[in-house]
Amino acid sequence: MEKLQNDLILRAARGEKVERTPVWLMRQAGRILPEYREVRASLSGFKELVETPKFAAEVTIQPVDILDVDAAIIFSDILVIPEAMGCTYEMIKGKGPIFPNPIVEEADVDKVKVSDPDTDLKYVLDAIVETKTQLNGRVPLIGFAGAPWTIFSYMIEGSGSKTFSKAKKWLYTKPEASHRLLQKITDSTITYLKAQIKAGANMVQLFDSWGGILSTEQYRIFALPYIDQICKAINEAPITVFAKGAYGVREDLGSLDCNTIGMDWNMDIAETRKLVGSGKTLQGNLDPCVLYADYKTIEEKTKEMLKQFEGHSHIANLGHGVYPDMTPDAVRCFIETVKAY
Ligand code: CP3
Repeated sequence: MEKLQNDLILRAARGEKVERTPVWLMRQAGRILPEYREVRASLSGFKELVETPKFAAEVTIQPVDILDVDAAIIFSDILVIPEAMGCTYEMIKGKGPIFPNPIVEEADVDKVKVSDPDTDLKYVLDAIVETKTQLNGRVPLIGFAGAPWTIFSYMIEGSGSKTFSKAKKWLYTKPEASHRLLQKITDSTITYLKAQIKAGANMVQLFDSWGGILSTEQYRIFALPYIDQICKAINEAPITVFAKGAYGVREDLGSLDCNTIGMDWNMDIAETRKLVGSGKTLQGNLDPCVLYADYKTIEEKTKEMLKQFEGHSHIANLGHGVYPDMTPDAVRCFIETVKAY
């Protein structure tokens, strides 16, 4: 067994006793650090960074060195799965991801394959191995993937979207083909997460960033069953499900075979605890925009949040990723407040 100097987050995920609440931030790698931008500027673009293990490892470890978080998250993107399935993406500066050949008709579903992590995603696995070597047991490493519904949305829309109406239209007009695509994504995700854990990831997180776009009924039909399959298949390490905006299904999330439920900032803590039940660790959920406030306010709001989570297993985080224009000092204020609490 690997010897970790700080395993707070793993113990919290398993519901074990911890000396203090562990803390990390979604999207902590990249975005806010000048040190990241420097590495990024020396390369041809985002994809070269993601696909070169040496650089991916470097920017994965930056927040551990600079912000002193209790976990690293592997520098990659949820969009590597569609790419591995045959639906390539480009990252356009200032615009975000674009898929030149999105899924348009039902026949396109048959053209995408279930990916094989050992060949199609070897660069991520190599980055994990390299990161683990360099971390040398300082903190655990988090692996991740997008949840099937969120990945499906990108593959159908071909980019980000305000409404995701193309993807939702598929659910209402092509339910059978939608299920087929969701199943292919799920199968790809299961072997991918297992491979990440085998390469050294100590825990994994599913990001259902567009969970809030679906109605409760549709979430139960097109999102939850696939998340459930993934949770049941991943037994090698703790798994966190972050379903942003999925307010109507919190009770359902409580029945998943996962360790931790991620909460966005609109999820009331006491209410969510009641709906999810006491068997799960909760993660979150400070409004990221609190980090625009002065340090005194950040400290106050962070303590208010921590107080509400008291008495149950908790992993401190924001209610969504940190935004690119937030300062490392504001982030540090949040982290230090959690650690001192
Ligand atoms: O959390 C981390 O620090 C690890 C790295 C990570 C990235 N993306 C790097 C990245 C993680 C976990 C993600 C997940 C991701 N990617 C999600 C789910 C989390 C969430 O925020 O809801 C989503 C929806 C994506 C898709 C994606 N990737 C978009 C919409 C964009 C463009 C806008 C942006 O900055 O988020 C990306 C690009 C991306 N992924 C960047 C980084 C650091 C910025 C690219 C750059 O450096 O130019």
